Amino acid sequence: MASIAVCPGSFDPVTLGHLDIISRGATVFDKVIVAVLNNRNKQPLFTVEERVELLRQTTNQLPNVEIDSFNGLLIDYVKKKNANAIIKGLRAVSDFEYELQMASINRKLDESVETFFMMTNNKYSYLSSSIVKEIAKYHAPVSDLVPDIVEEALRKKYAFSS
Ligand code: PNS
Repeated sequence: MASIAVCPGSFDPVTLGHLDIISRGATVFDKVIVAVLNNRNKQPLFTVEERVELLRQTTNQLPNVEIDSFNGLLIDYVKKKNANAIIKGLRAVSDFEYELQMASINRKLDESVETFFMMTNNKYSYLSSSIVKEIAKYHAPVSDLVPDIVEEALRKKYAFSS
């Protein structure tokens, strides 16, 4: 049976930290499906379509990585895709409490799906989409934090704000 993992998240926008986890996950699993949450309660900077497109362009060199979006419960999406694992990145101990809660509830909902945690590369341990947006909003460079096309997309979003 092929091992298929779902790597879920908001990806608003994708950072080098996310890409580190996705590319390393792709060396462990036969297929990795990066799933962008379409959360109508949140006010994202990028639309789901834009987030999916940025992920597609920044992972197109990884043949076993697929990009998709989902609504509702993650575990339902994982089952719909016939996946057997969830991959999450952990940056620091502070991430652990929330991720443990998520992994535990997902395990309660379906025991057959395992959650795998990967430690983020140390050089990205401080990095988050929120921090990237905060920096880009004030027109400071984010070139060490996101791929070039994401930096360009951020520049366009914040072109007329200060
Ligand atoms: O990048 P994020 O915002 O930390 O990603 C969070 C995400 C999308 C992984 C999480 O919010 C999620 O799985 N949402 C789907 C709803 C769900 O299944 N929640 C858990 C059971 S209450």
